[in-house]
Formats: sequence, structure tokens, C-alpha cells
Amino acid sequence: MNTAQFLVKSDLKFVDKASYTWQTPSNIALVKYWGKSNPQIPKNASISFTLNNCHTITTIDFERMSNAELGSESDKKAEFTLFFEGKVKEEFKPKIAEFFKRIQEYCPYIFDYKMTINSENSFPHSSGIASSASGLSAIARCLMSLEQEINPDLSLAFINKKASFLARLGSGSASRSIEGPLVVWGNHPEIEGSSDLFGVKFPYKVHSVFENYQDAILLVDKGEKQVSSTIGHKLMHNHPYAENRFKQANENLAKMSTILQEGNIKQFINLVESEALTLHAMMLTSNPYFILMKPNTLEIINKIWEYRQKKNSNICFTLDAGANVHVLYPLDEKEAVNQFIENELSKYCQKNQYICDATGLGAKQL
Ligand code: DP6
Repeated sequence: MNTAQFLVKSDLKFVDKASYTWQTPSNIALVKYWGKSNPQIPKNASISFTLNNCHTITTIDFERMSNAELGSESDKKAEFTLFFEGKVKEEFKPKIAEFFKRIQEYCPYIFDYKMTINSENSFPHSSGIASSASGLSAIARCLMSLEQEINPDLSLAFINKKASFLARLGSGSASRSIEGPLVVWGNHPEIEGSSDLFGVKFPYKVHSVFENYQDAILLVDKGEKQVSSTIGHKLMHNHPYAENRFKQANENLAKMSTILQEGNIKQFINLVESEALTLHAMMLTSNPYFILMKPNTLEIINKIWEYRQKKNSNICFTLDAGANVHVLYPLDEKEAVNQFIENELSKYCQKNQYICDATGLGAKQL
């Protein structure tokens, strides 16, 4: 695998101070990533819709350190202070410190700066919405702005590619949060340019029915998950169905590619729901086994099926590693489905809360 392309040249033109602000979105996988090997290499390719309203906004202030402040070569570590929604967040620091460790080979310039990171999410904290994808992609994108400043030769295509590469080293799904509206991560023979190292925009023309696709996120359970994604991924090692699952996911991605191009929405519904339930089936059949769905997750799924049948609708659901339900529907059903959610589904949500979102185009500099 060609990781050498992401190393930096030696004659960087350092600046004393810089500050960048990026807004990067969350994403929702249609074909799921579940299972990986080191270093953050997925066991199968995945594809997601990039979201628009659920995002993180991060500013990083970089201040160059004097020679006296720089640590010795052997005990170098990234110097950073982290504020989340205006407050120092010590508990988020280890994950970010680990991220900086993983990327230091590719971004050695981070050691030359003191970094002050200010981050906030558009969605309520601990809503159960994965914030690692938007959070880590935002940091990665800010770092790439600095890299561009100290190495002005870089093209935008390369910057996006490396931002996704870096984000992946923080959290796999974060690699799919730089561009949009559809991103593939993981090497796949039928997706041109796809790679295990970074996400790529879905390279084929997508049927208009999937334009501005809607995603309402029903917040069923906002509590801390009993089993984190990191542990869930690990349980795919020695999982009795793992190899078949990885093969199936790659086959499903090939099918999804055709569906997206041809606009076959019935097949889309079938594949998306099957992927969601298979992801949770992997959890049910892990050892130790675990269940992330809640009773209201199932209530909502049944209501969606009833509604689809009764109204001849194209609504469907997907799930990530949690109890929340993502309700997916085409733009032309927006009004009717929003009514249905408000009237029939919001009662299954904690404090009746849900977030209306739609596909988006990826990272934005503010
Ligand atoms: C169920 O990207 O959160 O959302 O790489 O360990 O950070 P790490 O895991 P993470 O896993 C996401 C899994 C998923 C499916 C998906 O987004 O494809």
C-alpha cells in the first residue's frame, strides 16, 4: 500500500502562527464497516451518505514553539489544549493524543506547534450520534490547511485525500466525512480509485432519485453505549460468521453501486435494511454477545414497515452502532414522512427528539 505518498517533504516553509476553522459532517453508512485490522484497515469496503446538518465545527490555533520549547527528538509529543463547547475536556484528550501519535509520521510538523483546539457539535452531546467521524475529520482537515500553508504545492485533490487518510487513522468512518454526498472507503474492484487508506467520492453518476436524500435521526437512546465500536470491531476477530460477512459486504457494495446508478429504490430499501440488521446480527452473534437496539428501536422499525406498506412509500431505516434509527426517504416524500415522524414516531424518542437531515457535500472552511 502506498503510504509514502502521504509523507511530507523536508523543506517546509514554516509560519509562526495560523488558525483554521472547518465544519465537517457526520455520515451514515449504507453498506457497513464492521471489522478491521491494523492500522485501521477495513475488512470490507463501505459506502455512506455524507450528512449536512449533523456536523462538528473545529478551530485549531497553531503557534510555533521556540527551539527552547521543543522537546528532544526522543520524547516528542504533540502539545495541545482541547476545548469542547467552550470548556476544557480532559476526558477527550487521550483519543486525540492517540490520533496525533498515529499520524505523526505523516504530519511531523505538528511537533513544531502548540495547538489550541476548539470544537463544537451541531447535535446534542451524547445524543448517541457518532461524533468521532465529524470530530476527527475536522481536526484532520485543519491540519491539512496548515500543511497547505507550509507546503503550497499541494493540490486540492491531494489535500482531500490526505485529510481522509489522516481522519481514517483516528476513526475508520471519519475517512468518509471529508467529501460527499456519497463516499466509498475500502478497496473494491468495481469502484475505481477506491482504497483501504482513504475514502473516495462515489465515482459514477447517481440517479436523481437519490439526490438530496433525506435522513431523520430518531434519538431513541442518548445514553452511553454499553459496548463501544472499538470493542465491537475487535469482536469480529474469531467471529464465526466474519469471513462470510466481509464477503457479503463487498458483494452488497457492488449491488449498491448499480442501484445508485440505476435508481432502483425498491432494491435500495431492501439492501439498506438488510445491511443494518446484519450489522446488529454480528453483534448478537459475537462472543461476548451484546445488543445495542432498544425496545423502541424495534417499535420504530415495525411502524416504518407498516407505513411503507400502507402508503406505498419508499421510506426505509438504517442503524449504526447504537439504538437510534436513521429514517431514509426521497425528497419527494419529505412533507408526508416528516408528518408521520412527528405524529407516530417521535413518541418513541427520548424527549420526543429527532434531527432532520439530508445528504451534504462534505467539509467546509469557515
Ligand atoms: C457501525 O468508525 O466508529 O458506524 O474505526 O474504531 O473508530 P473506529 O470505528 P467507527 O465504526 C463505525 C461503525 C459503524 C458502521 C459504519 O459507519 O460503516
